[in-house]
Amino acid sequence: MPDDPEEGMLSWDESVFRDEHVFEIDYVPESFKHRESQMQSLKYALRPAVRGSRPLNTIVSGPPGTGKTTAVQKLFGELSAETDVRNVRVNCQVDSTRYAVFSRIFEAIFDYEPPSSGISFKKLFGQITDRLVEDDEVLVVALDDVNYLFYENEASDTLYSLLRAHEAHSGARIGVIIISSDLSLDVIEELDTRVQSVFRPEEVYFPVYDERDIVDILRERAKRGFHEGVVGTPELDRVAELTAEKGDLRVGIDLLRRAGLNAEMRASRTVNVGDVEEAYEKSKYIHLSRSLRGLSESETALVRVIAEHDGEQAGEVYDAFHEDTGLGYTRYSEITNKLDQLGIIEAAYTDVGGRGRSRALSLAYDPEAVLDRL
Ligand SMILES: Nc1ncnc2c1ncn2[C@@H]1O[C@H](COP(=O)(O)OP(=O)(O)O)[C@@H](O)[C@H]1O
Ligand SMILES: [Mg+2]
Repeated sequence: MPDDPEEGMLSWDESVFRDEHVFEIDYVPESFKHRESQMQSLKYALRPAVRGSRPLNTIVSGPPGTGKTTAVQKLFGELSAETDVRNVRVNCQVDSTRYAVFSRIFEAIFDYEPPSSGISFKKLFGQITDRLVEDDEVLVVALDDVNYLFYENEASDTLYSLLRAHEAHSGARIGVIIISSDLSLDVIEELDTRVQSVFRPEEVYFPVYDERDIVDILRERAKRGFHEGVVGTPELDRVAELTAEKGDLRVGIDLLRRAGLNAEMRASRTVNVGDVEEAYEKSKYIHLSRSLRGLSESETALVRVIAEHDGEQAGEVYDAFHEDTGLGYTRYSEITNKLDQLGIIEAAYTDVGGRGRSRALSLAYDPEAVLDRL
């Protein structure tokens, strides 16, 4: 019925989505293309573990949204299914101290959390290695978003313990994969020399995907997530173009989902370019949202203060921060550095009329957008 007014309109019990879950952040895609050489290098480094030896340590780096976490999840999935190698991925944005990292490892090995009170690090560590030796197992630990351990000054201690496990506990075999999304951080350079001397990792780099790769990957995702014909080629191309501008595949996946929701809002069976453009106003902040989500209370407080004092000198910002939180200058400058490294704020040195140089602090995003997401 070509002139049916309901044609192309969605009824209440219909959806453009076949499976909305495929657009969620923790979804591990079935197919993982355009990362063949990186997967090869990682497998090469892990192969000794399968033979019962200590694997090669590896550093994985690359900008956000380039498939680093997914690569490790895929490999660990294979290791668990096909070998006896133990593996655990620690999200350092959540577990950002040595103790927290080892608690997570403990939990993965024993299947229950360590007692939350009173157990020393040494004991925790000892129980982990005893178990590995007893079970004759090799362990691979992935420290995902390891940059967060650096921001908290916990990276050297954590790595030192992991890398020297076989010396402190004879027979323990542990390999480490560290994953960093912060390209301005020179991981090796920032470690203590005692760690540098035992850490000679293989390096695997994940560059941003080009627009053709992005179209290819997102087409696959759209096919799984939407009913047939919901997203056409011009719409997909626009999504890919916007994603390539940001370089983060997460933007594209979020765009697809939001564009689908926008189409549903119009009760349309198909996504149009307008749905994509509108979605972009939110999706372009996905990286910001992710960075803000991991912040502590005092870190959030400073973001709020800077939003209200956007562009002012560091001294003035400190006064306001101190008034709000009661925290001192040392903590203030630590947090400032962390926010700067996370790309949430920008600190620019300026000459202040003959009185030397001072830092002006401003948000790297529109203050409204930041405050909305706090
Ligand atoms: N080659 C790929 N094929 C399919 N999906 C991918 C691919 N690379 C990344 N993704 C998807 O993009 C998003 C970001 O990937 P992720 O591995 O979390 O990036 P990173 O850890 O580098 O920030 C995830 O939703 C992931 O499923
Ligand atoms: Mg990641």
